[in-house]
Amino acid sequence: MRSNLNRFSVAPMLDLTDKHCRYFHRILTKETLLYTEMVTTGAILLGKGDYLAFNDIEKPVSLQLGGSDPDALAKCAKLAEERGYNEINLNVGCPSDRVQNGMFGACLMGNAQLVAKCIEKMREKVNIPVTVKTRIGIDDQDSYPFLCQFIETVMPYTDTFIIHARKAWLSGLSPKENREVPPLDYQRVYQLKRDYPNLTIAINGGIKTVAEIKDHLLHVDGVMVGREAYQNPLLLTEIDQQIFHVDNPIIDAFTAIKTLYPYIEDQLTKGAQLNHIMRHTLSLFNGQKGAKQWRRYLSENAHKKGAGIEVVDKALTFLNQ
Ligand SMILES: Cc1cc2nc3c(=O)[nH]c(=O)nc-3n(C[C@H](O)[C@H](O)[C@H](O)COP(=O)(O)O)c2cc1C
Repeated sequence: MRSNLNRFSVAPMLDLTDKHCRYFHRILTKETLLYTEMVTTGAILLGKGDYLAFNDIEKPVSLQLGGSDPDALAKCAKLAEERGYNEINLNVGCPSDRVQNGMFGACLMGNAQLVAKCIEKMREKVNIPVTVKTRIGIDDQDSYPFLCQFIETVMPYTDTFIIHARKAWLSGLSPKENREVPPLDYQRVYQLKRDYPNLTIAINGGIKTVAEIKDHLLHVDGVMVGREAYQNPLLLTEIDQQIFHVDNPIIDAFTAIKTLYPYIEDQLTKGAQLNHIMRHTLSLFNGQKGAKQWRRYLSENAHKKGAGIEVVDKALTFLNQ
């Protein structure tokens, strides 16, 4: 039977989906697959920090790797498997200049053989799934046959592709523009699933509601949501029941924050800064009375030296419970 892992996921987002964010999201949804930010092989193998740190509670969690050296990727994949990650994902979709200089991200779409080699090497080293996140094309290489050729070159080594349903312009557009300007083409992703029915295809890009997620799932195996999940985290509270058909209780925003308390306190004792945790929760109460004061109070106080749980206590008093 096809694995459920990719049925719904929160997208990898640099500077956003860090371990605090994922812990918070896990309180809202038990079933969703959570992605790390992209972590480069260089950071893991040469960096000083522990770039693979995560909390068991975040599971299922997928490590997104950025890189194009098959051996380095294989080493990182192995380390990640040993640490307990549930999936490794290769970034073949990020268009930033920095990433292009390192010859990885979206520009790898133009070198399908290398992507295949990278996946093959990783697969030799690990038993967990190794998946690819990519786009429907790059620059003028945006035809359907180009996409098919990419998929066919890589699919001997992985059967799971997450496709951001727009192409990337590698020069001229900023990463932000590359998430907004090239038009979305969901039909092309649906077509891919029709033409390669044995592959697991997840769709990504511009998806905002449970109704939209359900609609996409009529055509493909999975849906990945990025910005909307971050900006409207309550969306995640509906996913277990509506998308996974698992009868987990739906948590309200206030309870979600209270459930986060032990984590906040534990992290503070380990030297974390309150604002680094709370920034991911700022939009949780959007639409409710007091939401603005909640955001403002945290924004003005959570970064202060020594800020502790009492800041969250106070911020909650602005909300109607
Ligand atoms: C702030 C930000 C950072 C991102 N960082 C990554 C990343 O590290 N790796 C990646 O594959 N995609 C990254 N993306 C792209 C998202 O994963 C996703 O493909 C894109 O936002 C489209 O989905 P959405 O419309 O649901 O947000 C990033 C997007 C945003 C907004």
